[in-house]
Order: sequence, then structure tokens, then C-alpha cells
Amino acid sequence: MTISPSTDRRTALALGLAGLATSATPALATTVRTALTTPPAGTAASPRRRVRLADGWRFALGHASDMERDFDFGRYQRTYAKPGFDVSPATQADFDDSAWTSVRVPHDWAVELPYAPPKAPVPKDKEDMAAGHGFRAIGRDFPQNSVGWYRCKLPVGAGGGLVERGRAIWLEFDGVFRDCKVFVNGYEAGGSASGYAPFRVDIADFLDYDGGPNQLTLRVDASLGEGWFYEGAGIYRHVDLVSAAPIHVPQWGTCVRSTVDGTGAQVAIATTLANAAEVAGAAQLRHRVLGPDGREVAAIAAQPAIALAPGAQTTLDQALALPAPQLWSPETPQLYTLETSVLVDGQEVDRTQTRFGIRTLSFDGTHGFAVNGKPVKLLGVCNHQDHAGVGTAIPDALHAWRVAQTQSMGANAWRSAHNPPAQALLDICDATGMMMVAETRLNTTNPEAMDELDRMILSSRNHPAIILWSVGNEEGHQGTERGRRISAQLVARCKQLDPTRLTTQAMDKGWDGGAADAVDVVGFNYRTDKIPAWRQRHPGKPVIGTETASTVATRGAYANDAAAHVVRAYDTEHPWWASTAEEWWQIVAAEPGIAGGFIWTGFDYRGEPTPYAQFPSVSSYFGAMDLCGFPKDNYYYYRAWWRRDAPLVHLLPHWNWAGREGQPIEVWVHGNCAEVELLLNGRSLGRKAMPQNGHLAWSVPYAPGRIEARGYNQGRLAARDSRVTAGRPAALRLSADRTRLAADGGDTAAVRVEVIDAAGNLVPTADTALDFSLSGAARIIGLGNGNPTSTEPDKGDARRAFNGLAQALVQSAGAAGGARLSATAVGLAPASLDLFFHA
Ligand code: GAL
Repeated sequence: MTISPSTDRRTALALGLAGLATSATPALATTVRTALTTPPAGTAASPRRRVRLADGWRFALGHASDMERDFDFGRYQRTYAKPGFDVSPATQADFDDSAWTSVRVPHDWAVELPYAPPKAPVPKDKEDMAAGHGFRAIGRDFPQNSVGWYRCKLPVGAGGGLVERGRAIWLEFDGVFRDCKVFVNGYEAGGSASGYAPFRVDIADFLDYDGGPNQLTLRVDASLGEGWFYEGAGIYRHVDLVSAAPIHVPQWGTCVRSTVDGTGAQVAIATTLANAAEVAGAAQLRHRVLGPDGREVAAIAAQPAIALAPGAQTTLDQALALPAPQLWSPETPQLYTLETSVLVDGQEVDRTQTRFGIRTLSFDGTHGFAVNGKPVKLLGVCNHQDHAGVGTAIPDALHAWRVAQTQSMGANAWRSAHNPPAQALLDICDATGMMMVAETRLNTTNPEAMDELDRMILSSRNHPAIILWSVGNEEGHQGTERGRRISAQLVARCKQLDPTRLTTQAMDKGWDGGAADAVDVVGFNYRTDKIPAWRQRHPGKPVIGTETASTVATRGAYANDAAAHVVRAYDTEHPWWASTAEEWWQIVAAEPGIAGGFIWTGFDYRGEPTPYAQFPSVSSYFGAMDLCGFPKDNYYYYRAWWRRDAPLVHLLPHWNWAGREGQPIEVWVHGNCAEVELLLNGRSLGRKAMPQNGHLAWSVPYAPGRIEARGYNQGRLAARDSRVTAGRPAALRLSADRTRLAADGGDTAAVRVEVIDAAGNLVPTADTALDFSLSGAARIIGLGNGNPTSTEPDKGDARRAFNGLAQALVQSAGAAGGARLSATAVGLAPASLDLFFHA
């Protein structure tokens, strides 16, 4: 458990981002770190307390249909007769949970469940939801695995010493999958049906302030899904306990908006004040704005006190000017901090910090998208929240790593499909300039759906990274008048809560009416070739490719093998509704009026195994990267054309084709150099001009050795890439994105494991069985290899490599010091990697 004196999630973020300082982009990383960690000059700790509830949790599976195995939940007919009693003994402080498992939050219990392929083939007319969710043994057919219980003692009361009677105290859950009930000392205090929307639970009334203990219990029911993709299960995002003065700024109680003109930026600040006391009170508000370097650049002095009745809330609108704002953009993600103080009788009783960015956005059907008036093509990826080893419980540092991998490909935008993104991810996007399309889960207007939309917008509207709100995806009613009505209501609500951003909806048909008439920016899922004609029918209407390509590939594989569920990684394979990378990008690149597109997907994700929907395909094959974030070859197609200023050639396939000597091998080069020469064992096979947004191909009779591509610009060598015929596996090699990490119990390194030959070449076909061991101040939280047909456990200490690679996620165990990760394999030289965790 981390007790932090900071006022909001900035501390946690800073820790999560600490690694960026040694990442591939040092200049940016330094800026990010400074912006996030510089304490405001001359200020004491905030009277507010925020405690991240990460450690100290106990977990046990309950049961969705057997009350006895569900800790008697619902056993008594009087279950809800007397609040605080009779719901389940597991909600009470004196329940013995010593047999439960110790877990750390974020936690996904589904990723540890066994696989359960259907016993009989699923009829063709029925959607196979077991496949959709990645064949894990969860859902209605597995009641014994579908309910999870979590218990944690709250650091409140005499023992905790943290919170005084009379303060406002609440829990902030960023996401729990799903249908969860939150109990404090046996009282049902709140919960959320949504598995994706953040929510707050007020708990002050249920606490024992006279010594405790104070018991927090959650019952989480993942029997039903919300998507057709792997969704995980449990408390898979952060949970914070917050304690604030009776008169305070409530969660999401600050809204910062800015407009920019020739005279600078006008910043409008709306602040909500809440009085949680049983008596009336009055308070003043004071603001400071800190610039990207942490120095004060503007302030609003305390105004006359505002009176607040018991239980009342009021919102105050104020404004200030920033004459020379440093604008936020993908290249310059400058962040400001609004520091808001609440004063009672002249004393500061509460202080919050809100990060914001100043920028303008515009969408235009003729000129496309612009940030701060400068045209920017949206070079986007869609992603679900899922990673090898950890499922949906992605540590902040891994979010940061995934964003960095994606930016390295050249992407500048991310669509959170098909749900609101984690706040940790949004913070990283703000800090690194990754633009975000945030999507609500439900395209309907019932109270639950409207509430989820509200929670998405209220929690996220200060993030400069967000450029659009998406109100739906491929809805059954998308092309109908009913679909238009529903989306129009959702759009109206978006505008009410956030007039600064436009809306979109991802559609796969029906663009000439229906929801397309309700949203500002029309989204095409695939069918990119239909966009030019549609634009002629709808001149001036902004459009993006909300999903594009959907190519399928197995990382490092170059021959289709239907029996083995292997798909070659040339840019040729895609389902019927989709296209190659080249096909969609050539259309979008050529049309300034198409604001850009979002490939489906950046990373492979579990579930929706396509193109092979049968076990043992347990993951999708859509990613430009695999489930571990290892690039597939198409990654380099995008890298070539999305980062034209950085010369690149990338060669495929690998060059280990024993037994095929003399037979033709299809050799491709992705790249952006004007000309590329191919050489086999030093002999030129010719030089070709690279087509714009295209690739080059040769047919090369195989001979072992070295195949090399050389890229030339203006006749000069600008980039090269080669593959050599690797020998037998001889050794292992470990490397990490970072070897210095924070000793905060959460910071995580993504360790790359390579199987190499005696000369140090990657063996691109090696599926070697690996064993891991770790000593020191760290733990292995997950293993992966990117093979979409691998059904080995994600947890533990053994995993096979896949096509030469595997990944180990190593997390701080909370103490400062060193740790050594070792990897061994029978008959190979072992490898080890030293990591250092600093206080
Ligand atoms: C779309 C859908 C995505 C995913 C994708 C696969 O229809 O919106 O969630 O299923 O197709 O190509």
C-alpha cells in the first residue's frame, strides 16, 4: 500500500513514467519527468490524502450459482433487510480470509484460468463467445470461475492514523470487470455494472473511526461479458482511497478549458465545491497555474467565501489569461498544472492538482484534421487493453512501454476500442503526445448507458490527449433512424459535458443516414475504398477510418499453414471485410480531406481469434505487434511511411530455409528510401525504386548465408537491414527496455528473451522451452511469447520461446535493491540480467 501526500494521481503516474527517462526518447522523457514531479515551489503537503490500494488484497473465487461456495451471498431471504448485516460473512471484518490468495491490484483473475475449448463445434449461425473471450473457462458455463471476491483492510481509524472522523472519504475505482458490489464493514456502499467506466464510492458513513478494523470487500461477477474480445476479470485498474476536508473539491470537480487566439490563451476553470459536513460552512477558492517547467505562470487570488449548506455542492466559473501559452501537440506535449486550494477561515483545507494542456483541434471535410491550426494526419492504432502475461491488469509502466512501442512505429493516435481507457493510459498519452479517441461502451440511452458516458467524460475531459469522443461501434441500428436518434442523444450529452470536443462513431455500413447524421466526424470501419465516393456525396463532412486494414499475421512466420493456425506475415492476409495495410493507407495518404485512420490493431489481443476461430487459436492475429509487443513485419510498413523523415529499410522473411536450397523465396522490403538494392551473399540482385507508400518484392533462389537490403537516398546509402542464416540454438540473451526502475512495488520492465546461435544471431525458428528464476527485490508477473496458439500459462516461471523470442515482465517487489533475472534452457548457455530498483 502506498500512502501518498499528493493530491491526485500525479505521484503514481510519475512513478509509472519514471522509466521514460531512460527510454528511447531521452529528451522527451526528461521533460515529462520534470513536468510530473517538480513540486510546486514553497508549498506544504496538501491536507488531502490519497492512498493507492495496491497491496494487501486477498482474493478468492466465489460461485455464480452455488451460494455456499459464494460465501453465502444471497443465502438469506433477508439478505437486504438490514443494511450492514447478513449479506455475506465475507463482507465483515472478522471473517477469516487467511486461506485466500494474496494479490496485488491491478489484478485480472481470468488470465490465470485454464483454457476450456468447447466440447462440440459451435453451430455456424451462433457466435462463439468462448472463442470471443479467448477460450478461458469463464462465463455462464463456468459459474465456479466467474465470481471473484476481494478483501482489503482500509487504512482508516486509530490504527491507520490517516483519516479523522468528519472528513469526506471515498474510494475511486478506475475500472472493475464487472458487475461489482462494494462493501464496507458489511454495508453495501456502491458498485458498478460497467466493467469499464470509472466510479466513486462514498464510504464515510460506514467506517469505524474508533480503532477499526475497517473492512473493504468487493464481489465481482464476470459471468456476463460486454464485448466479443477478451475482457479479463476483477479489479484490473487502480483503486484509490481519498480523504478530504468536509468542504472539498469532489472527484472530477475541476474542469479546465482553454481557447487560443492572437492574444494568447483564455483558460476557463469550473470548480465544484462540496460540503460533506452536517453543518453549513463557507469556503474560498484560490488557484495557481504552473507551467510545463513547474513554475507559477498565473494565479487567481481567493475571492469572497461561498456559503454551502450541509450536503450541498456548487460550481464556480472563473477565468484567467495566459499571454504566451506553450501549446500541447503530439510533438510538444506541454502540460500545465492547475493547483486549486480550498480555504476555510483563511486556512487551506484542501488542495488538488489538475493537469491540462492548451491546444486547438479542428476537423474539416476538405482539409482534414489540425492541431493548433497545423494539419496533422491521424496515424492511428485501435487497441484493446490486453498484454501477454498480465491480461487486462496492465501496470502503468507497461502502458508507457506499449505507447512508446506504438510511437516508435510512427503512430500518433490511439483508439480505445471499445471502451473508455484507463486513467493511467491517458496520463501517459498526455505526457507523450499520443492522441486518444475515447469510446463509450454502450450505444444506447438508458440510464446506465448515459451514466457510463457521463463517467467517461467527467473523468477524462481535462486530458489534452483526447481528441474525440466515440459514441459507438458497428451498432446493429447504426444505419437507421432509431440509430440516429440514439446517437444524437449521446452526442448532445457529450457536448453538454464537454463543448470543446467533437464526436465520432465507428460504422461498418449505413453511412448515408442513421448515426452518421448525428455525429461530427463520420467513422468508417474498413471499406476505405468507399470513402472517396462517400465524400463526394457528403462534401465538407469530416471523416476518419475508425478501423482500417485488419491484416492478420503470425509474428515471424512466412508460410500459411492452416493446420497449424499459422498466417504468413507478408502484407497479403486479411479477412473479407478488411484490406492490406498498403491498400487502405494509399487511399488515406492521398486524400488530405480524410483525417486519417486507425489500424485494427496495434497489438494482438486475446480472444476473437481470427482467421482461425477454433482452439488452439486463443488470440487475434490482427496486431502490427504481437501480444508481447514484438513487431510483426507490417509494423515496419507503417514505420516507413508514417516516419518518412527517418530512413528505413526492413527485410523479410528470415533466412533459415534449410531444405529449400535453390527454390524461390519471396523477399520483401518495407522502407522509405528512394531506391533499394538487394544482395545475397554480397552479390547484387538488382536495385529498384521504392513506390510511394508501397513495398518492393524479389523472388530469390535460396542459398544460405546473408541477404541484405541497402536503401539509398539521392544515391547515398541511408539505411540497411540484413538476415543471416542462423545456426542451431546455442545460448539465450536477455535485454530490457530499462534496467533501473522505481522500487515502488509497481514499476515493471519488459524483458526481451532471445534464443541465439553461437555467433549471437537470433534463431528465428526457435521454440525452445525456457525456465526463469529471479532473485532480489522483484517478481515475475507474467510471461509471454506472442504465439497466438500458445496455451501455456501466463504466470509461473516457464514458457517456450516462439520464433526466437519470449518476454518476461519483471516488477518491483517494493524494496530498493538489485534483482537478477536468469533464463535457462536445456543444452543452451544461460543468460541473466541485472535490474536495479531505486527508492
Ligand atoms: C470490427 C470490430 C472490431 C473487430 C474487428 C476485426 O468489426 O469493430 O471489434 O471485431 O472488426 O476485424
